Amino acid sequence: MFDDKTVLTGVKPTGTPHLGNLIGAIKPVIEMGNQAEKAFIFIADLHALNAVRDSSLIQKWTYEVAATYMALGLDTDKAVLFRQSDVPEIYKLTVLLMNVTSKGLMNRSHAYKAVVADNEANGKDPDFGVNMGLFTYPVLMAADILLYNTDLVPVGRDQKQHVEMSRDIAGSLNNLYGKELLVVPEPVIQKVAAAIPGLDGRKMSKSYDNYIPIFDQPKALRKKIMKIVTDSKRPEDPKDPDESTIYLLYQHFATTEEAAAMRENFTKGGMGYGDAKKALFELIDREMAEPREKYYDLLANPQQIEDVLMAGADRAREVAQEMVARVSKAMLGRSI
Ligand code: TRP
Repeated sequence: MFDDKTVLTGVKPTGTPHLGNLIGAIKPVIEMGNQAEKAFIFIADLHALNAVRDSSLIQKWTYEVAATYMALGLDTDKAVLFRQSDVPEIYKLTVLLMNVTSKGLMNRSHAYKAVVADNEANGKDPDFGVNMGLFTYPVLMAADILLYNTDLVPVGRDQKQHVEMSRDIAGSLNNLYGKELLVVPEPVIQKVAAAIPGLDGRKMSKSYDNYIPIFDQPKALRKKIMKIVTDSKRPEDPKDPDESTIYLLYQHFATTEEAAAMRENFTKGGMGYGDAKKALFELIDREMAEPREKYYDLLANPQQIEDVLMAGADRAREVAQEMVARVSKAMLGRSI
């Protein structure tokens, strides 16, 4: 499917990975990483810096994200898993790209504009709370992508504009310094049929505090699942599976047969929500038992994670050094 294309994606370490992340991003990224000949997956710790002020949280979430991918079966001998800040070429390319990136392009960034709009709505200075990490976020992200000759960037819809900005920045550098310097990347938008609902039925999200962590221990997992909000239908009433958070989560973990059976239990009536939740808990518990053990084993021995990340950084650097040499030769007249 990816032929000989280079695919790359980044994950910001800004929270403990939850089931919404698992279904919407982590699973498709692992599939991509295991299929593509050349895949780069990195933890974007520098991107977390514009908002996360506690270094111990950045550390914790970086390990949790890495352990999640490793525990869920990312083949790190094939795909390159690394930490953004371990490849020093990122700093070099970012500074070089700053000089071919127009401020006007940054002004159009949705993420920045959302903060400005919020400030204006609250009668604050438009740039209140805006640091240059936030404002120049798309330049760092362009450097992430362009550093590795990336052809394809699988991302969620919210990141499409950032990838398009990388295209603009690459195009601008190519125009100024020679056509073939940078590969112009394409976004690949991951389509999830519908947003994954959280405990309260809204989109599962850290900011709504309605999420279920992927690797909660059975007791905590059961407790969370029992909290899923349902309507007031009685056990005997027929229920619409497609309107139910329980079913929507269930189908993602179930075999085709299990999903069909659960669907029927909903539509024909006779199953209470309590029983449906119990079935959901048992299913997730069954599916996550093995990776959960691996995950906690990795977190208890973070050196195992470090070893993988450092080996990944070495492999990433081989490509990155060549790119920075090429771009700096064009821009400065010598390789740095
Ligand atoms: N900005 C992305 C996010 O918030 C994370 C990210 C950083 C990224 N660098 C990237 C994604 C490069 C794809 C490619 O989700």
